[in-house]
Amino acid sequence: MKLHDSGLFKQLAYINGEWVSASETLPVHNPATGKVIAHIPMLGASEVRTAIKAAESAFKSWRAKTAAERSTLLRKWYRLILDNQEDLAVLMTAEQGKQLTESRGEVGYGASFIEWYAEEAKRAYGDLIPAAKSSQRIMVTREPVGVVAAITPWNFPNAMIARKVAPALAAGCTIVIKPSELTPLSAFAMAELAQRAGIPAGVINIVTGDAREVGAELTGSSIVRKLSFTGSTAVGKLLMKQCADSVKKVSLELGGNAPFIVFDDADIEQAVQGAIASKYRNSGQTCICMNRLFVQDGIYDEFIQKFSEAVAKLTLGPGLDGEFNQGPLINEAALNKTKDFVEDALAKKGRLLTGGRAHSLGGLFYEPTVLADASMEMKCYQDEIFGPVAPVFRFHYEEDVINMANDTRYGLAAYFYANDLSRVFRVAEALEYGMVAVNEGVLSTEVAPFGGVKESGIGREGSKYGLDEYLEMKYVLLGGINAP
Ligand code: SIN
Repeated sequence: MKLHDSGLFKQLAYINGEWVSASETLPVHNPATGKVIAHIPMLGASEVRTAIKAAESAFKSWRAKTAAERSTLLRKWYRLILDNQEDLAVLMTAEQGKQLTESRGEVGYGASFIEWYAEEAKRAYGDLIPAAKSSQRIMVTREPVGVVAAITPWNFPNAMIARKVAPALAAGCTIVIKPSELTPLSAFAMAELAQRAGIPAGVINIVTGDAREVGAELTGSSIVRKLSFTGSTAVGKLLMKQCADSVKKVSLELGGNAPFIVFDDADIEQAVQGAIASKYRNSGQTCICMNRLFVQDGIYDEFIQKFSEAVAKLTLGPGLDGEFNQGPLINEAALNKTKDFVEDALAKKGRLLTGGRAHSLGGLFYEPTVLADASMEMKCYQDEIFGPVAPVFRFHYEEDVINMANDTRYGLAAYFYANDLSRVFRVAEALEYGMVAVNEGVLSTEVAPFGGVKESGIGREGSKYGLDEYLEMKYVLLGGINAP
């Protein structure tokens, strides 16, 4: 791993503006090679409490800054992130395994949230409401929630942090972040750049350690007033329960089971490209990756042929060694889970069109896979695959495919390809999902609200709505205003 600026390679936690070690450490592996690339501190409960206290004392002065002052600091951080995009991408590829092109894209994507919220910081508007009495005025102001805890996943080691920290800081909150112990280096490098940007000590804190212990400390603290979490539905539910005792505000971005529907009237070439972009981004390891591909009768054979031919051409390799389309999975558990989904589908009469096994590169590489003739009995119909496997279901009627698409406890992202205008509106309105992409395979952007319904989560990230998650409304009644 060669960096232009070796100061970005940190293996220490960041609390109250200081870099902190611990007697016990945890190794970080490169999933493409299995090699240990760093050791990070295993902090205990008392260090996490120190970080929370630091965020609490920094909150007083941070919230007192003007929105313009906070905005300027966020913008400086944004610039430094872009100036160091290549190093941040190399660090990310080393710890996460995604290809360098994807890592560069993610650093840019993460930075876009910081720039967006540098602007939105100035737009935390309130209201003046006509009162029932002429002697009264009703004011509504919006105030920062307070100390925020963020627990972030390994699949987007930079952007999922940026998407939480930027609105939190813009609103005037301070934050304690627990990045995934699998991908902490991107988080430390972002903290280093935040420090260089002049973001004051205590405003951003990064703690690493045992996920359960750190999570319990963050959710159990009455100082922490909000939790923002991205990860699995199972862990999200647990954290939500833990937050109940102190009635914290929560934002949860959880699992998905995205349908990707291709209707007979779709542009097949575009649908093939969209399906590849949706399914194989980050080797299938995103919450919004297409999980079930539904193709209508009339174009089924043509579509699966074109799609599987294109998937068979995807190349695999370690991201730091060259340009490939796909990297490894994150760890052994992810590899085994992927194998299990494929074995289950094949045992239930799935037809393998391409892939279907671990790649000859060995390690954590798995071949991009397409399975035709998928059915509702298969595990992939109900559960999130989180790997490079596309099961294709055949359907005949629009109504049936809507029912199947909605037949899940999840409701994060859905995609469909169609050209008939009436169908476009009908289907977009019928899908029970927080996000729907029509004739597009990628929908993430800082300007739109990202989030799900049902067991896919609560709250939205990004866009003008994302700021509300870090603000509380205050109603102030002004009385005794006399007429002249
Ligand atoms: C996720 O997988 O959780 C995030 C994906 C995105 O922001 O595009």
